[in-house]
Amino acid sequence: MLRIPTVDLKAQYETIRGEVLSAISEVLDSQRFILGPKVDQLEREIAALCRTRHAIGCASGSDALILALAARDVRDGAKVITSPFSFFASAGSVVHAGGRPEFCDIDPRSFTLDPAQLASRLSSDVKAVVPVHLFGLCADMDPILDLCASRGIVVIEDAAQAIGASYRGSDGAGPERMAGEMGVSGCFSFFPTKNLGGFGDGGMITTSDDGLADRLRLLRVHGGRRTYHHERKDSLLLRSAGPDRSTSSITTRSVPTGGTPFASISKRRASARASITRCLSTCRNASAAWATREEISPRRSGRHGKFCLCRSTLS
Ligand SMILES: Cc1ncc(COP(=O)(O)O)c(C=O)c1O
Repeated sequence: MLRIPTVDLKAQYETIRGEVLSAISEVLDSQRFILGPKVDQLEREIAALCRTRHAIGCASGSDALILALAARDVRDGAKVITSPFSFFASAGSVVHAGGRPEFCDIDPRSFTLDPAQLASRLSSDVKAVVPVHLFGLCADMDPILDLCASRGIVVIEDAAQAIGASYRGSDGAGPERMAGEMGVSGCFSFFPTKNLGGFGDGGMITTSDDGLADRLRLLRVHGGRRTYHHERKDSLLLRSAGPDRSTSSITTRSVPTGGTPFASISKRRASARASITRCLSTCRNASAAWATREEISPRRSGRHGKFCLCRSTLS
């Protein structure tokens, strides 16, 4: 049997080796490893990509979720509804923040939170909803946002797997919006295998709420606007959440601004997906698996929508 890895980081690294080594070298020469201008630059570029006013770097996608929940006062067992079909961190972060996760099932066509089932789960004690954009495919956000807005419930997007993905637009059902732009905040991961992978852990929170951005910036450094002056007691409960400079420095070089590595890597991944799809369609068992997924995933929008099918077929 031919084994095809879903991601080949070594092959990808070979294509950007020179740039990565020079970025690492710059960081080592500067001897500044936490926050600083490289992180600021990455934050500006991610905010531009996601069309939000702010992007706040942090140590991982999990920390992004914990910080986003904490910044909206999710604690003391507050109920948070999320998807059961996700990486552990979507629900685990709710527990870390002090909330209580509850699952609402997914739509089997998209593998993302089912708005119809969500409607019957939203009671007055629900503090937040965390839809998960999976495999680069955005959850069906419009009905989720409507349901939550009418009940005063906060929506925090788990966009760890969906940087650069968009919702609507191409289907004519509404204006295009980016992952991370739709909820009060969006949480991203730069885990090395992600669409925009770093060279270590890294995360980012996007928001267009100025007050929330300020709070997040404070929470990520233990509540201290000035070194050793800690204004917020509740921040002390969080573990260190500052992004490291080397990850940011390297990731900054890969952010999707035109012909940069992120754009070309995404393009290559798309072309690999197409080739694998073609190959699988000639293989009897694999094409059977493919057909099953095609049947249940006739999905709209999302620049990376097909990834969902490919990934499911290969796993
Ligand atoms: C959907 C989802 N949420 C959150 C996370 C957590 O991100 P990190 O591994 O950077 O903490 C991941 C990472 O795999 C993820 O896939």
